Amino acid sequence: MKDYFKVDEWKIIEEGFDPLYNKIAESVFSIGNGRMGQRANFEEAYSGETLQGNYVAGVYYPDKTRVGWWKNGYPEYFAKVLNAANWIGIDVNIGGEQLDLAKCEILAFRRELNMREGYLKRTFHVRNEQGKEIKVDAIRFCSMVDDECGAIRYTIIPVNFSGDLIITPFIDGDVVNTDANYDEKFWDEVKKDHSNDGAFVQLRTKKTGFGVATAMKFSLIKNESFIEFTSSPVEKEKYIGAEVKLQVKEGEAITLIKYATNVSSQNYPADALEKRAADVLAHISQKGFDTMLAEQAVAWAQKWKHNDIIIEGDAKAQQGIRFNIFQLNQTYTGEDDRLNIGPKGFTGEKYGGSTYWDTEAYCVPFYLATAEQKVARNLLLYRYKQLDKAIANAKLLGFNNGAALYPMVTMDGTECHNEWEITFEEIHRNGAIAFAIYNYTRYTGDESYLTDYGLEVLIAISRFWAQRITWSAQRQQYVMLGVTGPNEYENNVNNNWYTNTIAVWCMQYTLEVIDKVKQDDIVKYNALVSKINFKETVETDKFKDIISKMYFPADEESGVFLQQDGFMDKEQLLVSDLPSSERPINQKWSWDRILRSVFIKQADVLQGIYFFEDRFDEDTIRRNYDFYEPRTVHESSLSPCVHAILAAKLGDVERAYQFYLRTSRLDIDDYNNDTEDGCHITSMAGTWMAVVEGFGGMRVKDDTLSFAPLLPKEWRALSFQIGFRGVLLNLKADKIGVLIKNISEQSIDIMLYNIKYKVDANSELFIKN
Ligand code: BGC
Repeated sequence: MKDYFKVDEWKIIEEGFDPLYNKIAESVFSIGNGRMGQRANFEEAYSGETLQGNYVAGVYYPDKTRVGWWKNGYPEYFAKVLNAANWIGIDVNIGGEQLDLAKCEILAFRRELNMREGYLKRTFHVRNEQGKEIKVDAIRFCSMVDDECGAIRYTIIPVNFSGDLIITPFIDGDVVNTDANYDEKFWDEVKKDHSNDGAFVQLRTKKTGFGVATAMKFSLIKNESFIEFTSSPVEKEKYIGAEVKLQVKEGEAITLIKYATNVSSQNYPADALEKRAADVLAHISQKGFDTMLAEQAVAWAQKWKHNDIIIEGDAKAQQGIRFNIFQLNQTYTGEDDRLNIGPKGFTGEKYGGSTYWDTEAYCVPFYLATAEQKVARNLLLYRYKQLDKAIANAKLLGFNNGAALYPMVTMDGTECHNEWEITFEEIHRNGAIAFAIYNYTRYTGDESYLTDYGLEVLIAISRFWAQRITWSAQRQQYVMLGVTGPNEYENNVNNNWYTNTIAVWCMQYTLEVIDKVKQDDIVKYNALVSKINFKETVETDKFKDIISKMYFPADEESGVFLQQDGFMDKEQLLVSDLPSSERPINQKWSWDRILRSVFIKQADVLQGIYFFEDRFDEDTIRRNYDFYEPRTVHESSLSPCVHAILAAKLGDVERAYQFYLRTSRLDIDDYNNDTEDGCHITSMAGTWMAVVEGFGGMRVKDDTLSFAPLLPKEWRALSFQIGFRGVLLNLKADKIGVLIKNISEQSIDIMLYNIKYKVDANSELFIKN
């Protein structure tokens, strides 16, 4: 764990520059607006260690799969989030020397992410090899209002010299993905152009043919007035810059305002991109940088109004949760149902594709409670629209009759992953997709989703389970062989308790929804039956048979559910037996040793207990928690949050707090030694769950919201906002009691510590501890 960034409730601050931390800082200071985003690379040249990253949501490239040994059923392509044109570039040349922080003496440096207002600021003072000193003050952001745009204000002050300064704002599309399988470049140039105050590059992805036009327009300010200038084009392949030669005076600031846009053929015809880019730039440059920045602050204030979580008395915890909420809002806004939430969002390339089970298991609850209903619905529709591909994917593996296996990793519905133990075996992902439908319906009460889309997905998923589960003549029970559970440190196991549990639950839920839809809208039900050729009696009989005769492994002696058959044969070590020099085990041990060990990567049995907690009494939850947590190394970012929620439920607030810090500050403090690859965006939604479901005790039961706040001793107070079925609630818990404000025109019944209360419209309820 590192303690590199300053603690501040609304900002992330890097004071002084350490090149060894640069890639970590580039990840942490990333900015985005749901439509585009980028790592916090420098505008000017930097020859030190850096990971260049600019991303345009939904634009991907199907890189040809690379494996050591081909297995039938592997997808041929792995669709990758693409590193796109760099629009921030500003080359600065002082007296013939290119500004490059890796080659200068750094006299002062500060990088700051302002989360309240949504911008990145960097100031530095450097001395170059000729002894010339400059100060730079740079602010940039991806606009939340004009979501195809970004803007930069870059001010240079010559500190101890007068003379030549060349500034070249540029766009560089000649970029690579560091994770390219065959070191290929994924973009072709279509056209480019330069004008005195701007430049334009249009690129097209190989194979997928996505067109993206990246364009810039700039102006220069001296002594607070715009100045005339002449620029000359600098052209290279997929690159275009506009070089401006200036004479500067010691102490006199020169400011470059750079407006940029990315417009994509997902939204406009490819031949209209140039015009669209020009229109967008004309629009924002007319507004001006200051107006855009002010609008950005207003847009973020709106977000925070609905999303903010306030933790009083603990600045580290406060900074952590705000950072997580900030990054989630930068990654996905829910405007477009073709988009999803990648594990790294716009902060890095790792994990390639954009959609994992993370979305359904972790992100949906966050968006359900903090955004308009359509946002979570769009996440569900994303999967609905990919159902055909999930059916094709299952078919490729030998399933039939409309059985669907959703991909482990995807951009457009096709499977992208190619490790057999994950691609073919980590099938629990199907369960999370069904669970999200249940969660959405439970939270919103919108049952029309089930009729119009949900049931079709549920039947396809249940059909998959019904074929994937097999009959064991010896046990006289159904079993599920050869799977990988959420704990990826075990592969090809039989009867993973979590997967068996969620599979059976899917079938139960499907049966319930069939009954419901039949009752609500028999016409639509019949239309669905014929569309998917559903043999109701035969197929539901099979589901019922499996439900009643499924085998769930358990260990009678210790009274715990068994993660999988044979788990007790392992040497029963605990994480506390591991020397810290051997952790993280995924960086220190061979894979073989990991697989044979007892150590668990992330919540597995406990993930199931978290999803279905109402089925278990507290003793059962405690026994399983006490057994599994000490064997868990939490080497997936998705792990600590689930443990925080369960620890809080069991009243172990101290443990819950430790897990909370770990999940909320995972990237800021680089707990897992991997923040340089990008931030763990999807687990950030888990952090939110840890606060709201863990310390706030929020649940939805029988159409009613319930709370049971329990605060760590470090916190003076906790407050958060929740949207629920048209009602906006603000809950504040402190040492004295719990205050719930209903900020809406509708009254609501809620449960607080298991007692029912009515909170009238625009009124509040205060219950003393
Ligand atoms: C976890 C998976 C997760 C993936 C992407 C892996 O390390 O084990 O559960 O889906 O990361 O976040």
